[in-house]
Amino acid sequence: MQNILERKAFTVSMANEKNIKAIDYLGVTSGNKVANKFKKSGLTAIRSENVDAPLIAELPLALECKLVSYDEKTELLLGEIVNVTADDSVLDENGKLSVEKLAPVCYDSAGHGYYVMERRVGNAFSDGKTL
Ligand SMILES: Cc1cc2nc3c(=O)[nH]c(=O)nc-3n(C[C@H](O)[C@H](O)[C@H](O)COP(=O)(O)O)c2cc1C
Repeated sequence: MQNILERKAFTVSMANEKNIKAIDYLGVTSGNKVANKFKKSGLTAIRSENVDAPLIAELPLALECKLVSYDEKTELLLGEIVNVTADDSVLDENGKLSVEKLAPVCYDSAGHGYYVMERRVGNAFSDGKTL
């Protein structure tokens, strides 16, 4: 949090199944206690061209954000997405993001499980109109 406040920027990366161990390690370890946290995770921090915050080379999709506000009391942090970086491997033939190809990992905080989101089950703003 200290870094985000100093740099006024942060990135939000989406992980896939390949990176589970590494991203869980980043979550359970603090850089305040383990100085070489990134190196130990096996992931690579690279410089973003758009914000003063690192990107993770191995993660295929990232939102690059400028800090808009942070409320210490509620810990509510707001950011403006100024760029989205996507690896070619997660784009479809039209250059659009393919959720199936990305297959992002989601976290279930109740069961402490990681799940992969990869199957489309409906069409937004459309399926409901059939009723
Ligand atoms: C599965 C998982 C979920 C987490 N969710 C949150 C969360 O919602 N909010 C939060 O402040 N920290 C959460 N954490 C803890 C942070 O990831 C952790 O404090 C942070 O990585 C510490 O790293 P740092 O001190 O190097 O910044 C979570 C950790 C894990 C493993």
